[in-house]
Amino acid sequence: MDTITEKQQKKDEQQQADFLPINGTDHIEFYCGNAKQSAYYYQSAWGYELVAYAGPETGVRDRASYVLQQNKIRLVLTSSILPDSDINEHCVRHGDGVKVLALEVNDATAAFEETTRRGADPVLKPVKMKDEHGEVVISAIRTYGDTIHKFVERGKYKGPFLPGFQARKSDVPVRPIGLQVVDHCVGNVELGQMNRWVKFYEDVMGFKLLITFDDKDISTEYSALMSKVVSNGSGFIKFPINEPAKGKRKSQIEEYIEFYKGAGVQHIAVLTNDIIATVTELRKRGIEFLHVPDNYYDTVWDRVGKINEDVNEIRRLNILVDRDDEGYLLQLFTKPVQDRPTVFYEIIQRCGARSFGKGNFKALFESIEREQANRGNL
Ligand code: FE2
Repeated sequence: MDTITEKQQKKDEQQQADFLPINGTDHIEFYCGNAKQSAYYYQSAWGYELVAYAGPETGVRDRASYVLQQNKIRLVLTSSILPDSDINEHCVRHGDGVKVLALEVNDATAAFEETTRRGADPVLKPVKMKDEHGEVVISAIRTYGDTIHKFVERGKYKGPFLPGFQARKSDVPVRPIGLQVVDHCVGNVELGQMNRWVKFYEDVMGFKLLITFDDKDISTEYSALMSKVVSNGSGFIKFPINEPAKGKRKSQIEEYIEFYKGAGVQHIAVLTNDIIATVTELRKRGIEFLHVPDNYYDTVWDRVGKINEDVNEIRRLNILVDRDDEGYLLQLFTKPVQDRPTVFYEIIQRCGARSFGKGNFKALFESIEREQANRGNL
């Protein structure tokens, strides 16, 4: 039996071994065609509050950025206001999409040095920025496609977002829907690239491989994919990485890669503690979800057993259910949230389960294939 001191020592060693301690997701930044209108959508439909803004009125000459927040989830929506810019290039190539997955760290300089020393492609050397609210340090490295990871050190900062941003409130009536925190962010990468990016997260960022799904787990008649989930030392950050696998027809990952023009963020899973309330509101506000046929519920309870929620409500709202050794989870996926069949959201409630809903893959992928067929992309 370990003594308490030995246990503490082991814990300290583990923490020392984690060369990239991460406190959580700091923010997710989208480059989009019209940030002003997207901000309205996230406020009115998704219940995010506008908390900060940067643009011409605050002395920023080339872009406008809206910072939206709901509990611990922070989205930044950015549009270029000039014709020639990286932002516009990104939008022309990818459509509206995620540019930055920002991670909150205690030391953005060490995060940059540790990761670049291990082979990360640098994007931004550590810079200190100050205003009347304090100081932050930011650095950045590349990940898959044109996506980057920013490291944000904000321990000495009290402002609404970052220096250069001003606190902002809008007149849009906002009713939050109970979204709490980012649960996981999934990346789609090109055929044959999954292991390369898993290795990147392992070697360069010190993540661990959590789960592997192969095409036997995730295939339907037409479409297949492979997926590996990596997670950081604290377990707060989970990045599943998908690649297409050979199927009879074009897989959903291939469709994404074709329309996103390369690798990128496929979906962001946001956690709620009351999925029935969250999804009831989202449906009322016109958010479109993938549909699973009613016969899904003929067998689901045999598979997952008893749950605490009202099963009639679960069925009415078309919410999916799965169970693992530790408990169960409830989840639901939106249709893509822009015209290209690319980024979408997952709403998830965890009741003990720490997995990703493997039991729902088949029903889900058949639903995605129906959507692909509607788009003429199957
Ligand atoms: Fe997911």
